[in-house]
Amino acid sequence: MDNFNELQNLEVKMKTPNVKSQLLRIICVFAIFIFSNGRTMNSNNQMIRAVNLGGWLVTEGWMKPSLFDSIPNKDFLDGAGLQFKSATIGKFLCAELGGGTIIVANRTSASGWETFRLWRINETSFHLRVFNKEFLGLDSNGINLVAVSTNSETSGIFEIIRKSDDSSHVRIKAPNGLFLQAKTEVLVTADSNGEGQWRDDDPSVFEMTKVETLRGEYQVTHGYGPTKAPKIMKDHWDTFIVEEDFNFIATSGLNAVRIPVGWWTASDPTPPKPYVGGSLHALDNAFLWAKKYNLKVILDLHAAPGSQNGYEHSSSRDGFVEWGLTEETIQQTVDVIEFFTARYAKNPSLYAVELINEPRAPGVPLSVLTKYYEAAYKVVRKHAPNAFVVLSNRLSGDPKELFPVSSGMKAVVIDVHYYNIFSDIFNEMTVEQNIDFIQTNRSAELQAITITNGPLIFVGEWVAEWQVRGATKQDYQRFSEAQLQVWGRASFGWAYWSLKNVNNHWSMDWMIRNGYINL
Ligand SMILES: *[C@@H]1O[C@H](CO)[C@@H](O)[C@H](O)[C@H]1NC(C)=O
Ligand SMILES: *[C@@H]1O[C@H](CO)[C@@H](O)[C@H](O)[C@H]1NC(C)=O
Ligand SMILES: *[C@@H]1O[C@H](CO)[C@@H](O)[C@H](O)[C@H]1NC(C)=O
Repeated sequence: MDNFNELQNLEVKMKTPNVKSQLLRIICVFAIFIFSNGRTMNSNNQMIRAVNLGGWLVTEGWMKPSLFDSIPNKDFLDGAGLQFKSATIGKFLCAELGGGTIIVANRTSASGWETFRLWRINETSFHLRVFNKEFLGLDSNGINLVAVSTNSETSGIFEIIRKSDDSSHVRIKAPNGLFLQAKTEVLVTADSNGEGQWRDDDPSVFEMTKVETLRGEYQVTHGYGPTKAPKIMKDHWDTFIVEEDFNFIATSGLNAVRIPVGWWTASDPTPPKPYVGGSLHALDNAFLWAKKYNLKVILDLHAAPGSQNGYEHSSSRDGFVEWGLTEETIQQTVDVIEFFTARYAKNPSLYAVELINEPRAPGVPLSVLTKYYEAAYKVVRKHAPNAFVVLSNRLSGDPKELFPVSSGMKAVVIDVHYYNIFSDIFNEMTVEQNIDFIQTNRSAELQAITITNGPLIFVGEWVAEWQVRGATKQDYQRFSEAQLQVWGRASFGWAYWSLKNVNNHWSMDWMIRNGYINL
């Protein structure tokens, strides 16, 4: 495998348009014989120093909230998690047993069974999905509220009417045109006319709390709908990342970009609803610009059909992990990888293909992922014999669990994401403790998975952000420096998350321009 890496490096060097390329070629040919250990060459200037182009072709609302500004009724997007407390009873609506039976109003506190996930139909009408994935509807008498249907199409359509725009007091209109009321703790029916003052003794009044918000590609395209979304998305693609960004990246000491893409882009120009066409053109541009500015591309399938992690960055509709549940989603994803690889295989910038980003355990079982990785690896090899193939570790998985599947592969890389955030252990850490965690703990983790003749290691996402409040510019500089040093030992390289972000520290563009990161 190490020799394979040498050949890969050699090939990339040889593709570099350079008057000295002949000389380089000769040196490299000798180098192959001189350095029997591929790591030696890989630790030269081919080490990946990349930035992610996140939030561009796969929307993430927290990175650019303005993208959602003019969606009608934008509090009620797909995946919004709602809880309803009966005003009269003072207890929460609950899908008894998590779903599959009646709806009750007897819970004093709320979590999973008491959370209803929206499936938006349009700005006023919704399906609601419960913990066990059934949808709300009425029973055969047409009056009692139940959660038994597993098919959204045939389940009930509901409307949520607020007392006023900013109010948490709501009434819920059922498919029979009448309003829900919690008559007793165990009887929730759709037979109120929903009139009257919004008094607390009115059983049709509920206090609503939103406990989950998703703002991904599904939400933005569905929220604007088929007439408005194409223009909104085109404007975003045309302005969020532009050619000048590639020039900036290339002149900032970076040599690559990791580009998150979604599965729907492979069916451009007519992707399934609610996605809209045009993203493939933007990706084509990225490859043109990468070639022009001599940047390598790590193409990263960030969003797979059904969602591999339930997060908005995988374009989840409602937070469930449904990728890999059927043979169909796996085959569809293999086809997507084949489409992208075949399309860009001739572009000298295509350096690596990442098969799926951050699948989450236990929703995605290791056996399913392994099967997918094997099939997707084959289709990459069919079109791009020399490209690196990147396998992303599972969130909450064992850091070494992909070693067996990777052992049969050439030019294979394991992607790990190292953030000092997203875990309670960082909540109380000081500046020094954060830096020490990088230098001690992360450094040890990285070393533990870096094995002779094992897969290369890629820190494919990191950021100079933490839970520390009131840190100084110098604190940030030391934090980013510590990470650059430790990630510099990753055998494949690293990639910052991300180039552009309204949150400054998450924007490498801002961090470089303002001297918080020195490459
Ligand atoms: C709520 O009502 C259901 C149906 O009668 C019952 O099975 C369940 O135990 C009740 N839960 C609580 C917390 O009272
Ligand atoms: C929203 O969808 C419902 C159910 O399909 C339909 O009856 C209603 O007319 C739609 N409203 C708008 C504004 O499109
Ligand atoms: C980091 O590593 C040190 C030394 O092994 C250990 O004592 C400490 O608990 C680790 N910190 C965290 C937050 O895991």
